[in-house]
Amino acid sequence: SLVRHYKFSVISKNSTRLCSTKSFVTVNGQCPGPTLYAREDDTVLVRVTNHVKYNITIHWHGIKQLRSGWSDGPAYVTQCPIQPGQSFVYNFTTTGQRGTLLWHAHITWLRATVYGAIVILPKRGISYPFPTPDKEKTIILGEWWKSDVEAVLNEAESSGLPPNISDAHTINGHTGPVPGCTSRGYTLHVESGKTYLLRIINAALNDELFFKIAGHKLTVVEADASYVKPFETDTIFMSPGQTTNVLLSADQGVGKYLIAVTPFMDAPIGFDNVTSIATLRYKTTPPYPTTTLTTIPALNATPLTSHFIDSLRSLNSKEYPARVPLTVDHSLFFAITVGLNPCDACPTGSKLVSALNNITFVMPTTSLLEAHYYNVKGVFTDDFPAHPPIVFNYTGTQPANIQTNNGTRLYRLNFNSTVQIILQGTAMIAPENHPFHLHGYNFFVVGQGSGNFDPEKDPLGFNLVDPVERNTIGVPNGGWVAIRFRANNPGVWFLHCHLEVHTTWGLKMAFIVDNGNSPHESSFPPPNDLPKC
Ligand code: C2O
Repeated sequence: SLVRHYKFSVISKNSTRLCSTKSFVTVNGQCPGPTLYAREDDTVLVRVTNHVKYNITIHWHGIKQLRSGWSDGPAYVTQCPIQPGQSFVYNFTTTGQRGTLLWHAHITWLRATVYGAIVILPKRGISYPFPTPDKEKTIILGEWWKSDVEAVLNEAESSGLPPNISDAHTINGHTGPVPGCTSRGYTLHVESGKTYLLRIINAALNDELFFKIAGHKLTVVEADASYVKPFETDTIFMSPGQTTNVLLSADQGVGKYLIAVTPFMDAPIGFDNVTSIATLRYKTTPPYPTTTLTTIPALNATPLTSHFIDSLRSLNSKEYPARVPLTVDHSLFFAITVGLNPCDACPTGSKLVSALNNITFVMPTTSLLEAHYYNVKGVFTDDFPAHPPIVFNYTGTQPANIQTNNGTRLYRLNFNSTVQIILQGTAMIAPENHPFHLHGYNFFVVGQGSGNFDPEKDPLGFNLVDPVERNTIGVPNGGWVAIRFRANNPGVWFLHCHLEVHTTWGLKMAFIVDNGNSPHESSFPPPNDLPKC
């Protein structure tokens, strides 16, 4: 295994997209930023230097951070931000991991433009558990606002209302041509007869996305850097933070084919129907017209999303067994709600908030991991409720009181204990699919369903053999998912909705996992250059 060094210079950059120019925050002047390459079991050191006026942190989404929680990155969870003029070296390993992940800023909404791919190849001499592709390509999807994204966030926060939606989706940074504004768009060049491994990443801020290529089937082989049983599909569905590896055979010989990226939105509010396009082009193709798609998924194509999600199964081979916890030490039930809390400064007198078990999480002004490590009192409490305060028909009528309680409340897990969380969607104000991401772990998605979770019947149908293993899962609108993991990585680990607007509204919490080896936590001391608040 090797030690890989990277330098991330956080700088502002002027660039023109959708015929309008703005200055925005980038890593090394690029958007998407540089790809991190490593092999399984390597050590990765990334020196991040902040040259902009904003505080920054970087999160390595899906990297387990085994005993390296200080390098996880969420601001005020595992570290204080890197302030203007400062540097911090993130230091982590890729132990036991291989596949496609992403990195992104993890403070305010800077991840709109501060993101990039992580590609972890198998150990030297180890091949993929599927036919070796001739070539590999990374396709990273994002969202683009013509205006300044921090201003969009500030406006939403002061109004208490939903933020302005983005102006376009991007494919490897390109917006694609839009009416009234020509733009080159991204072109995926392929050679006839070759097989490609496409590493597709959804780095959008607030949108779940479909991905489709005209005239070509895709074979899914990996989700969130875990191998899956291969299956063929013509449409990929991904939540923000999720990654999907697919094999593409360039078997059409010649021509140009449309690639479409289109949002999935099943909420009754917030309409966002901007389809972004790119082109797959065979080499030596004369000026052919582009073959278009016969169908583009509808904005509310829920059956397509559930079909795609249901098709994902762990590979569960001898080499890559699915180690699903068969027993449960901590049984948790988290109800996801959106509420309206009083807000004197807001024009409507109230503001949208979101909560797990009626707790709207409030970020501290120092880091939770430091407070835990140094045993600082008064930063958080460890009494996060394991169950909702009231039991109601989650997907039916709303309870009369839709206010939530603020709190910096964490839930303590014993080292190496097994955990099950039922994430239950509700019909409170804005029923919607919520992609939940857990830091520090992968989890197994042992069950999912529509309506209210039935604690008697539903567990009988759980898949404890080959459930998909991932780090981000969509809780369906009007339904639930059940996840399991083993808490064998000490630290403070964030759990949150990866639609950034919902994180802003408080749809987040954190787990404390004690260090099984040492009461003094001394097996993972903070690095010397850890930023101060
Ligand atoms: Cu990809 Cu806590 O985020």
